[in-house]
Amino acid sequence: MTKRIGVLTSGGDCPGLNAVLRGVVHAATARDWETIGFLDGYEGLLSPVQYRILDKRSTAGIMHLGGTILGTTNKGRFVAKVGHGGKALLPQDIIAEAQETLEGLGVEALITIGGDGSLSTSLQLQEAGINTIGVPKTIDNDIDATSMTFGFDSAVTCVVDALDRLHTTAKSHKRVMVLEVMGRYAGWIALHGGLAGGADIILIPEIPFNLENVFDVIREREAKGAQNTMVVCAEGACLGDGDYVTKAKKAAGEARLGGIGEVVADAIAENTGKDTRAVVLGHLQRGGNPTSLDRILGTRFGVHAVDLIAEKKYGHMVSYQNYLAGDVPMEEAVSQLKLVSRETQLVQTCREVGISFGD
Ligand code: F6P
Repeated sequence: MTKRIGVLTSGGDCPGLNAVLRGVVHAATARDWETIGFLDGYEGLLSPVQYRILDKRSTAGIMHLGGTILGTTNKGRFVAKVGHGGKALLPQDIIAEAQETLEGLGVEALITIGGDGSLSTSLQLQEAGINTIGVPKTIDNDIDATSMTFGFDSAVTCVVDALDRLHTTAKSHKRVMVLEVMGRYAGWIALHGGLAGGADIILIPEIPFNLENVFDVIREREAKGAQNTMVVCAEGACLGDGDYVTKAKKAAGEARLGGIGEVVADAIAENTGKDTRAVVLGHLQRGGNPTSLDRILGTRFGVHAVDLIAEKKYGHMVSYQNYLAGDVPMEEAVSQLKLVSRETQLVQTCREVGISFGD
């Protein structure tokens, strides 16, 4: 073996992680490099150090599986994001221990597969002198400097499947259905899932909505003879006071969102008299097999991450632009979230096919 590289999966899991791992191992093996996979995210770097050697045999038959064979965590000692997207600095002793582990194992570079928070951790490690390459992962699709993250397409597919099912029952009972979907502070899942699944109303964090407008849309639809209405509500959509809805108690790490769907459904029932139900899709969006798009994207990202190590382009994140895997400096990717704007073409397309954003 000429070189040893490390890889880990960090933050919330998503479909496609195993495809990336398999891609990394294949590309590394082709160069005669050895890959070791740290367990449970960055935590595997700390005592008791936990890793396993990854080779073609141990990564065979995993591409189609959801989750991650390495395990992951979005808590622990490497949390670099707190509250509503605030940044946190890693303790020096944690960084030093991680560095010692990697040096002791002879790991030349570490591929970190994660979302915004995990990539912020990766950047801090890079700044401390550890060679890192980031791979953007999240169902939320909110990482800047890449047009898409793997996991997103699988989550959207799950939303569309749920809407297809909800449509038939909503129609039979002449109900309003409110489907709450994930996405944290970004409305990408709601936007894409809502359009593909035939939603009538889409509520997202980036476009403040007014409940009165939502009631009006439902009433107008009724007046025109449409007896059921489908509402897709992003978990990060805010109420009039501009605040996110959360049922969780404050804890370390990012805020846990959720509950807006029920609030909206109750208000609709009370103000329009329509029989209304709320459904929270939750972690179904994160589980299960990746779509073919996510398998391909994951594989391309894994292979490209190894290419970047070969070029010693450390501190960069793999990105997807114009249908090609490329890369960008990690700072560019984590300095801000990629959010939906009112001017996004897809928002205009939605409006033109009669979807309301409640604004
Ligand atoms: O970032 C991915 C995501 O699934 C968000 O869409 C959601 O808000 C959050 O993670 C849920 O996190 P947890 O699995 O910790 O409940």
